[in-house]
Amino acid sequence: MCHCPPKKFNTAGPCVLEKHYMLPVLPRLPEVDDMIESEFYFILHAPRQSGKTTFLNVLTNKINNSGKMYALNCSLAPLRSINDEYNAIMRIVSQLNDAMESSNVEEINQRAYKYNTFNGMTSPNLMVKIMLKQLCLDLDKDLVVFFDEADLLTGPALLTFLAQIRDGYNYRYQPGKNKFPRSLALVGMRDIRDYIASKHPQSIGEHLASPFNIKKKVFTLANFSRDEIEALYRQHTQATGQIFEDKAINNAWSWSEGQPWLVNALADTVIVDELKNDFSVTITGEHIEQAAEIIIKRRDTHIDSLLDRLTEPRVAKVMDAVFAGTKSLVPINSDDRQYCLDLGLVVKEDNGTLRPMNKIYREVMSRVITDQIQFQLNEDISKFKWSNGHKILMTELLTDFQKFWRHDSRSYPFFKSDFAANKFDEATYFFYAFSLFTKNC
Ligand SMILES: Nc1ncnc2c1ncn2[C@@H]1O[C@H](COP(=O)(O)OP(=O)(O)O)[C@@H](O)[C@H]1O
Ligand SMILES: [Mg+2]
Repeated sequence: MCHCPPKKFNTAGPCVLEKHYMLPVLPRLPEVDDMIESEFYFILHAPRQSGKTTFLNVLTNKINNSGKMYALNCSLAPLRSINDEYNAIMRIVSQLNDAMESSNVEEINQRAYKYNTFNGMTSPNLMVKIMLKQLCLDLDKDLVVFFDEADLLTGPALLTFLAQIRDGYNYRYQPGKNKFPRSLALVGMRDIRDYIASKHPQSIGEHLASPFNIKKKVFTLANFSRDEIEALYRQHTQATGQIFEDKAINNAWSWSEGQPWLVNALADTVIVDELKNDFSVTITGEHIEQAAEIIIKRRDTHIDSLLDRLTEPRVAKVMDAVFAGTKSLVPINSDDRQYCLDLGLVVKEDNGTLRPMNKIYREVMSRVITDQIQFQLNEDISKFKWSNGHKILMTELLTDFQKFWRHDSRSYPFFKSDFAANKFDEATYFFYAFSLFTKNC
C-alpha cells in the first residue's frame, strides 16, 4: 500500500504528477511533436494559468528521456521588472545559465556557462546567440529550447533578442562551425508577432520575426471540456472515495468554462475550505456554487491579477464595451481587443461580440467596475447632473433612473440574458444598471 501523501488539486503554479491531480498534458497540444521533428521554430501562446509551464516541463522531460535529443526550458519571468536592453539581455543569459544548472541532464549541467564568462566579453547584441551556439556545438545531440514567458520581453530588448535568434537560425546548418537549437519555442500569453506588428511595424519588413513565420504556425492551449473536468475530479474520487454529484461537475463547468486554474480552485475550495477534508461528504452542485462565491470574494492571486488588468486603460476600455454591449460609446481598436483575448479575459461569441471568458471572471469584473463607479460618484459629486454642487438631488435622480429602468435597461444584452437567468446578484445588477444610467444620461 502506498503511504505517499494524498494528491491535491493544484492552485499554486505548475502541476507535478507526484503531487497533483492532473489531466494528461501532452495530448493537449499534439501538434508540437511535429514541429520539433520538423526542426521548426514556433510560438505557443495561451492565457494565464492555463497550463503552459506544466506543458513545457512535461515536454522537456519527455524529450530528455527519449535519448534522441536534449531539451532546455528557460523561464524569462524575471524580465518583468527590467526595462533596458542591456540588462534584459544579461538577464536572459543568466536565466539560460540557471536553466542549464538545474537541468536533469548531466550533459547540459556540466556545460553551464557562468554568467560572468560572458559579462563584458561580448556585446549584448551577440550574447544570447553565442551562448546558444556554443552549447549546441558542445552537446553530442541536437537541442530544443523553450523560452517560457517570452512575452515579457518588449521594446529594443525584444528586437535584439529576436535578431540573435534569427541570425543563429539562418546559419544553423554549417557542420563543425555553426550550430543552433534544432527547434525553439517562444511561449507566453501574447503572440510576439502581434506585438511586433503593432509596436514595431518596420521590423516586420526586416523579417525580424522570420523564423517564427514558418507555416504561420501559432499554437494555443484550449480550456478543459466538461468531460475533462469530470475526468480530473474522478481522480480524487478514485483516490479518496469522495463522490462528486453530476450537478457538481455541471456547475463547475458552468462557472469556469474549463479554465484550468478555476477548475482546480473550485474543487480545492470545496474540499479544503468548505468540507475541511472530510471525504465522507458527497460534493453537490450547491457546494460548487458556494465555492464560486468564495473564490470571487477571496481574491486569490489569479483573481487579483485579473483585477490588476482592469486598471490598464486599454483593458478598461474593452471591458466597458463588453459590459455596455451595443450601447457602448467607446471605440475599441483591434490591438486592444486582441490583447484582452490573448490574456484570456474575454472570448469571442459566434456573432463576433466579446464576453467575459467565464462566469467567475464576469462576476469579479462587474463587481469591480461597479465599485469604481460608486467611488467615482462620491468624488465627482459637484459635476454630477443631479447635484446642487454639494448634495445629490435624490428625487430628481431616482425619477430619471426609474424612467431609464423602464425604458432602456432591458436593451442591454448584459441585463437581459444574465439577470433573467439569475446569474448575478441583485446588488451587482442594480449598481451596474445605475452606472450605465449615470454615464449615458
Ligand atoms: N494538466 C493539468 N491538469 C490539471 N490542471 C492543470 C493542468 N495544467 C495546468 N493546470 C492548472 O492550471 C494552473 C496553472 O498551470 P501553469 O502550468 O502554471 O500555467 P501557466 O504557465 O499557463 O500560467 C495549475 O495551478 C493548475 O491549477
Ligand atoms: Mg507559466
